[in-house]
Amino acid sequence: MHFLETAAEIAREAGALLATAFERRIGYETKGKFDLVTEADRASEKLIVERLRSHFPAHEIVAEEGGGYQSASEYRWYVDPLDGTTNFAHSFPTFNVTLGLERAGEMVAGVVFDPVRQEIFTAERGAGAYLNNRRMHVSQIKRLNDSLSSTGFPSRKRNHNANIHFYYQLAMASHGVRRTGSAALDLAYVACGRLDFFWEFGLKPWDMAAGTLLVAEAGGRVSDMKGQPHVVASSEHLLADNGSLHDEVLAMFAEIFRGEFRSVMPGVEAVAG
Ligand code: IPD
Ligand code: CA
Ligand code: CA
Repeated sequence: MHFLETAAEIAREAGALLATAFERRIGYETKGKFDLVTEADRASEKLIVERLRSHFPAHEIVAEEGGGYQSASEYRWYVDPLDGTTNFAHSFPTFNVTLGLERAGEMVAGVVFDPVRQEIFTAERGAGAYLNNRRMHVSQIKRLNDSLSSTGFPSRKRNHNANIHFYYQLAMASHGVRRTGSAALDLAYVACGRLDFFWEFGLKPWDMAAGTLLVAEAGGRVSDMKGQPHVVASSEHLLADNGSLHDEVLAMFAEIFRGEFRSVMPGVEAVAG
C-alpha cells in the first residue's frame, strides 16, 4: 500500500525540519499555563498537511495545531507534528513526528519518526511492525515485577489528574517507570521491546493513532485502563503492553481505581528535618 511509504517520507521530511530547529534552539510560547508550542510545531504541521493534501486530496486530516482538513472521506489522518514539545523547548533530545491513518474507524497505517536517533517505526494493519525496516516485536517479560514501563502526565488540566498514584504503585512493583515526555515514542518503544508497557490518561488521538497500531502489529495488546476496547478517537485512557502483562497490570489498575494501594506513599515527615 502506498499510504505507508508516503507517510514515512513525509515524517522524514518533517523530522529533518524539527532537527534543524532543535539545533538552532528556538524559543517557545505557552498555550496554557504549562502547555508549550514552538515555531517548529507549526512549521512541521504546515509541511505535513501540505504534503498529505497534495498526495491524498480527499482524505480528512486531524492535526494538533489546528491546520487540518475536514472531509467526509472514510480515510482520516491523525497528525502530531511534534510530539514531545516540552522536551524540545528545553533542548532535551526526545521527541518525534507521528502520522496515523484510520479507515472507517480502524487504524490501518502508522509512522513514528525520531530524527535525533534516526529511527523510523512503521506499521500497516496485518503486515507487521518495523524499526528502520527490520521486523520488530514486543518484549517477552512475563511478570510485572520484572518490567520496565513508562507513563506520562498531561500538560492540560494537570491538577485534575491522579496518575501519580498509578505511577507510585507501579514503580514500587516493578524495575521502574520512565517518564519520557513523548507518548508516541513510548508506544514505539513498547512495540520494539524497550519498554514492557505504557499507560496514560487524557491522550489525544494524534498522540496514540500510530503508536497503538505499532504495538498491535508487533504482537502486543492495547485496551483502555479498565480493559475495555481502546478507541483512538475517544478513549480517555490507554494501556499498551507486550500481551503477557496485560491481565496483571489491569488487575493492579483495578485496585488503584478502587482506592486500594499496595504501597503506602511516604509522607513529607520522611524528608522534613
Ligand atoms: C505530549 C507528550 C507527553 C504526554 C502528553 C502529550 P505534545 O504531547 O506526548 O509525553 O505526556 O500527554 O500531550 O504536547 O508534546 O505533543
Ligand atoms: Ca503529542
Ligand atoms: Ca504535539
